Amino acid sequence: MPVSIRKLTGRIGAVVEGADLAAPPDPSTVTALRDALNEHKAIVFDDVDLDNTGQERLAGWFGDLTTAHPNVPAADGTRHVLAVDSETSKANEWHTDVTFVVNPPQLTTLRSLVTTPYGGETLIANAATAYRDLPAPLRALADSLRVVHTNQHDYARPAAATAQRREYDRVFVATPYEAEHPLVRVHPLTGERGLFIGAFAKRIVGLPPADSADLLRLFQSYVTRPENILRWRWSPNQLLIFDNRITQHYAVDNYDDHPRRLNRVTVAGEVPVGTDGRRSEQLTGDASHYSEVLAVAA
Ligand SMILES: [Fe+2]
Repeated sequence: MPVSIRKLTGRIGAVVEGADLAAPPDPSTVTALRDALNEHKAIVFDDVDLDNTGQERLAGWFGDLTTAHPNVPAADGTRHVLAVDSETSKANEWHTDVTFVVNPPQLTTLRSLVTTPYGGETLIANAATAYRDLPAPLRALADSLRVVHTNQHDYARPAAATAQRREYDRVFVATPYEAEHPLVRVHPLTGERGLFIGAFAKRIVGLPPADSADLLRLFQSYVTRPENILRWRWSPNQLLIFDNRITQHYAVDNYDDHPRRLNRVTVAGEVPVGTDGRRSEQLTGDASHYSEVLAVAA
């Protein structure tokens, strides 16, 4: 049965039907999913019949897996699964996953286990359309800038109101990492340019802190325009895959104290490249235990 793709919004998101995610990978299906991801940035599947092992296997269709996280241990009994659990953390901030390492994951898979009776949506923003929306002088400025990303700043994490969340945050920052990335990243598969910033972006290289903060806020305001955003409302047993090279996401904290649990598996990425061909660099820390570096043909 051929894979069918239904767009969710004009700029981001599609529902994929007709793909058997539990089957051995079939090259034409993998190609169709990769093409859908390249075009729509975020793709979702309903009623998936996957356990943790199945999610790991499915993520492996797209490349080698990372471990769960550079600092946070894997979910019990797994090597690659990060438990995204409202008990320990609420990621209600715009971010791209793990951009404080030199080669952040190329894509993220999220599988819903426990969903909320209301709210609890994941927002995903298209950073490529954000870049294209910039007036030409701002695009030129963005193309020229480099940004230091870190896991260290406390404003990278929402206020931790409980002991469990404080402990999660302590582990999250326990080993410091800093990486320098181009502010505009060229997607290795599509050649598209996207704004590569988000909550781990700490400062623009060469600028005073106040100017850096103002400019990051300005560029970020283009990413989070409503037109660029898919607002995904979860039901159990859904799988969401987003292209972590060219999106940001945000978990809306609008579900009171209801539990919310998703399992995350990420796929290793390459070292980002800017519009001038310059690559990212690790400034602090060594995350080689976390992720292989994906080789991308020059
Ligand atoms: Fe995330």
